Amino acid sequence: MRSLHKTVLLVLVASVVLVLAVLHSWPTRAYSTVDVRQRPGTGVERLLAERLPEPDPSAGTIPYHVRESVAGLLAHNGCVCEGERAGVNLPFAQLLFPRVSAHPLHTAFQPSQLDEMKRRRAKEYQGFQMRSQTPADLLIVTEANSPLQYPTQGVEVRPLKTILIPGLALKDLPRDIYTLNFSASLGTFNVAAEVEGVKVRGDGEMHMTLSSCVLPNLNRQLQFITYTNTLFHPSTADTVQLETEGHQALFTIKIRHGVTPRLYNTGGDADKEYNISTLVTIATKTFLRYNKLQDLIDSIRRYYPTVTIVIADDSENPKMVSGPYIEHYVMPFGKGWFAGRNLAVSQVTTKYVLWVDDDFIFTANTKLEKLVEVLEKTTLDLVGGAVREATGYTATYRQTISIEAGEEEGDCLHMRRGFHHAIDGFPNCVVTDGVINFFLARTDKVQQVGFDPRLARVAHMEFFIDGLGALHVGSCDDVIVNHATKIKLPWGQTESDKTYAKFRYPPASSDATHTKNGLLYFKNRFQCLTRN
Ligand SMILES: *[C@@H]1O[C@H](CO)[C@@H](O)[C@H](O)[C@H]1NC(C)=O
Ligand SMILES: *[C@@H]1O[C@H](CO)[C@@H](O)[C@H](O)[C@H]1NC(C)=O
Repeated sequence: MRSLHKTVLLVLVASVVLVLAVLHSWPTRAYSTVDVRQRPGTGVERLLAERLPEPDPSAGTIPYHVRESVAGLLAHNGCVCEGERAGVNLPFAQLLFPRVSAHPLHTAFQPSQLDEMKRRRAKEYQGFQMRSQTPADLLIVTEANSPLQYPTQGVEVRPLKTILIPGLALKDLPRDIYTLNFSASLGTFNVAAEVEGVKVRGDGEMHMTLSSCVLPNLNRQLQFITYTNTLFHPSTADTVQLETEGHQALFTIKIRHGVTPRLYNTGGDADKEYNISTLVTIATKTFLRYNKLQDLIDSIRRYYPTVTIVIADDSENPKMVSGPYIEHYVMPFGKGWFAGRNLAVSQVTTKYVLWVDDDFIFTANTKLEKLVEVLEKTTLDLVGGAVREATGYTATYRQTISIEAGEEEGDCLHMRRGFHHAIDGFPNCVVTDGVINFFLARTDKVQQVGFDPRLARVAHMEFFIDGLGALHVGSCDDVIVNHATKIKLPWGQTESDKTYAKFRYPPASSDATHTKNGLLYFKNRFQCLTRN
């Protein structure tokens, strides 16, 4: 009994001692402090500008002739939005001969507010530029006949990790002693191996010097140079400066995490027919129009009985919409068009999402397999179909979008009907920038761009403007959905039609148009817009 007590006591004492020892030797990890405030460039621009010798002044006297046909294609300083003057004033003239109209966007604000808006926009824009640009975006010019050999692009390091810098060498120069300096600002240099006859100074620092009397040995040493990123950033670049007597070179090392893929398990066998139920979710937004919505659901079920339908609903007195493979999300009243799209799309778990309006009707021509085929076989992220009106008119609403750089007033936005290219192997499809509100898209890409919930009423192309540069867009006119809503005369409308029209189609001078123009002006930093 006694010996048991003794043992217990001993174990207890031993544990206390052990715990104290562990606590004492617990590594108190020292964290370095970094300054991640936004600030203007680190002077690399200046360095780049000062590095190269002045161009030969005698070149200024050599005459030249401007080739207008080519020079005219170059961007001008600043941009303007110019419309075309109205031609013949016929009914349907805009449909038959679409005319370019120009719209200034600053009119979204009161003249008294405008200066304040400009100032705030300029401040936000400056911050955006600082966040979005890296030294890898700067122009670097290589000196003529530089004896320095180095990688011009493609060097990449993970944040806080180490790499060997490939491709470094010094070409033959008559010298007694060869010296090479390395400098960086977000990391340090070192040598992974030492070579005889080469002196290394500053290893483990941001400035390292190599010197040797024997060029082959120096070049051997250059194969072992490492770069270690020391200042964490998930995606930026460091500019490395390489210097030998009389010559200087710069190159960038990209610092970034690998891109995390978002893959979707689509089940089944890829070689067999596409199973739309496992690949596609149909998303829609409804507001008051429950009978139309039910017609849409019934028409979908005729062709795709097990595809999931996600419905976002911001009606004032929501009605229950239920059934197999239906998800109905009720939102606060009048949250609006883009908020609904955003909510619906956020709930999609399949690889693709099909956007439809709640007054569309699926028919035998609504072959989603064809749209899936296009996205599976091309680099497109989003492909639009066609919408057939009750009149028989079919629309694809293809739009090209381009942005012309402006100065302090902002950029110019140009939208035109049409497309860029036909697509090889898909004779009914083209590449463009914006399409109709019937499209199939990669879910992750749509979620990445998002639908700005501030656009509550009339909005559609705004999504494609936000997605410019992120979305690769196509349009196919052989996948057709029907549009159920006929254009009704005011006296033929029901109460719910009228309420719907009031929210959905506000007059041009309304707050909704001001909101839209205000966002183009401030958020996207445009000064004006032309379209046809
Ligand atoms: C290399 O750096 C050292 C110290 O910073 C400097 O004294 C030397 O002139 C540099 N050499 C070259 C070739 O630039
Ligand atoms: C397609 O997927 C759904 C849902 O996983 C499944 O119920 C259905 O049987 C599949 N259809 C085919 C033809 O494999």
